[in-house]
Amino acid sequence: MKKVFKDISKLSPSYIPQRIPHREVEFKKLVDLFKPVITGNEAYNHVFIIGEPGVGKTLLAKYFERYIRNNHNFLVIYTNYRVEKRPGNIVRAIVSYIIPSMPLRGYSIEEMFIAVMKEAVNKNLRVLLILDDADTLFRKEKEFIYLLSRVDEILGTQNILSIIFILHSEHMLLALDAWTAGALRKNLLRLKEYSYDELIDILRERVAEAFVEGVVLDETIQVCADISSTYNYNARYAIELLLKGGKLAEQFGSEIVKPEHIRLARDQVPPSFSTEDIKHLSQHEKLILYGLSRLLLSSSKAFVSTGELEEEYKEICKELGLQPISHTWFWNEIKNLSYFGFVSRRESGKGYRGRTTIVGLPSFSARFLEEILRKEVYKK
Ligand SMILES: Nc1ncnc2c1ncn2[C@@H]1O[C@H](COP(=O)(O)OP(=O)(O)O)[C@@H](O)[C@H]1O
Ligand SMILES: [Mg+2]
Repeated sequence: MKKVFKDISKLSPSYIPQRIPHREVEFKKLVDLFKPVITGNEAYNHVFIIGEPGVGKTLLAKYFERYIRNNHNFLVIYTNYRVEKRPGNIVRAIVSYIIPSMPLRGYSIEEMFIAVMKEAVNKNLRVLLILDDADTLFRKEKEFIYLLSRVDEILGTQNILSIIFILHSEHMLLALDAWTAGALRKNLLRLKEYSYDELIDILRERVAEAFVEGVVLDETIQVCADISSTYNYNARYAIELLLKGGKLAEQFGSEIVKPEHIRLARDQVPPSFSTEDIKHLSQHEKLILYGLSRLLLSSSKAFVSTGELEEEYKEICKELGLQPISHTWFWNEIKNLSYFGFVSRRESGKGYRGRTTIVGLPSFSARFLEEILRKEVYKK
């Protein structure tokens, strides 16, 4: 049987392509924003990259990381807050690059941060911290943002820490005090959603890198972009479809990846985020999401009320012998899940007693979610 893929790794989410169609302008802006730092006229800069899932935020930052590391001798530290989850882990990541021998216990986060920044100043380092998926950080850890962004005040030296913050929503900036927000807000790169044609260009490039020449029909690429339109032309989803579609073609012994393979793949690929992202949720976020999928599976409802969901969540905690989180914290977690697009939230209309917030599952099948989360939650 002939191969369909030339290099399947080119379809992995962590691959950084050679070219980034329709993000060249933004890349140039990013380079321009850091030019004063690169030339040494400024000590640091803070930049925001903001946009919906799958618009190339992480890609842009990593592309820039590669550029600045190879060309300008920066120490670049990439962190993802959805993975790291705590300010302490971010600081420990910085420490591990700059003072690998520093003991990580016995210091407060602030002490550790100050020590590592002093060391960076002593070593004459230029540091760029990339904080990806930082929405939660802005919502829950404002003090930490102040700490990160005011090295000069705290140390009484020059600030040598440049930061790229990557956020899903601009609202997060409103959470900061006016001074900080004003200072941070200057440098904003908003990534617009791709159009159909733009996504086609991106997919064509990727197909050329990943598949044997000629096996993916142009019609197949069009179907990929078309299906992705329901998810705001999320490029990540479109690439996942290509990958799955290619695998299905192989399974069926087809030498050509056809539109129908992509349509079949659609039924298998969870949109906008992969199962990896679900694994990075906090334990209680997982439990809440699991509760939601259970409730939706056992009914034919479109939404459940937060009250019902909290009950179900507590029930699951009981099954597992866990202490449920407080009501306020539960709300926080719901907000969190909706910021990342795992769930939707809206005020109830008719059919509910009083006004309540209802929660839906816009982009996943409840069955799919229930299955992977059951494994996560019960470890079986
Ligand atoms: N302009 C582009 N050119 C090439 N690939 C892209 C482009 N935009 C996004 N992608 C690809 O789409 C996927 C999702 O992009 P990503 O940067 O992870 O999105 P975000 O971080 O905004 O959710 C990645 O595989 C990325 O390589
Ligand atoms: Mg990303």
